[in-house]
Amino acid sequence: MRTHLVAGNWKMHTHPNEGLDLVHEILGGLGEAKAEVWVFPPATHLSLLAEPLAQSPVKLGAQNAAAAAQGAYTGELSVSMLKACGAQGLLVGHSERRQLFGETGKVLNQKLERCLEQALTPFLCVGETLAERESGNHMEVVRNQIEEAIEGFELHALDALVIAYEPVWAIGTGQTASPFQAQEMHAFIRRVWAKKFGESSAEHLRILYGGSVKPENAAELFGQTDIDGGLIGGASLKAADFLRIVHAKPQV
Ligand code: PGA
Repeated sequence: MRTHLVAGNWKMHTHPNEGLDLVHEILGGLGEAKAEVWVFPPATHLSLLAEPLAQSPVKLGAQNAAAAAQGAYTGELSVSMLKACGAQGLLVGHSERRQLFGETGKVLNQKLERCLEQALTPFLCVGETLAERESGNHMEVVRNQIEEAIEGFELHALDALVIAYEPVWAIGTGQTASPFQAQEMHAFIRRVWAKKFGESSAEHLRILYGGSVKPENAAELFGQTDIDGGLIGGASLKAADFLRIVHAKPQV
């Protein structure tokens, strides 16, 4: 059985005190959540949020880290620094990092390695652009993104890895992939994994959907066989919306 997982990616939103308020509101409404819940605030908030979250089931992650372990990289933050500030997981390869900051498969492979060295849970984000979907290459693109990122790793190292399928055309656009489109890609990702690492490992792999998930569409998306939860951007910034998504009952 795969534990359902809902994660909030705050991107470059909120100041530290607003982040603290948001976390308190989330904790206040969490109740008996069945889902594993994560928040990915800006790195400046990690130390501040680590304390209230340490007393809770909600896990804390970072949105990005340097590909190098340490050194002369002005402005960068290493995975071990983020871990020291409380991060337990790391987003790797979010499409905004790929598109706006030119992160390539090779760089993401290195980031994943840093993450695994420090025993952080990696959330590998993959997804095609609209042009790639329209040209019919979307499955190929996603398979390549996965293969490039995990190249050279043994299965045991990837045990905790979570994949987030986020079609670029659905991120922040209000245009969600249909449950059918999402399920089709998730099933494909699971097949790719099974081919590489075997059926039983593929059965354990958690694959999240991201891209305009809202309280209104979460239940239907989460009801799909191969969708194990969501990576939520915009709707994770309002505690009430995020909590409705956390509590959404998968609609089968
Ligand atoms: P969105 O973002 O929910 O605002 O579309 C999702 C993401 O980028 O992780």
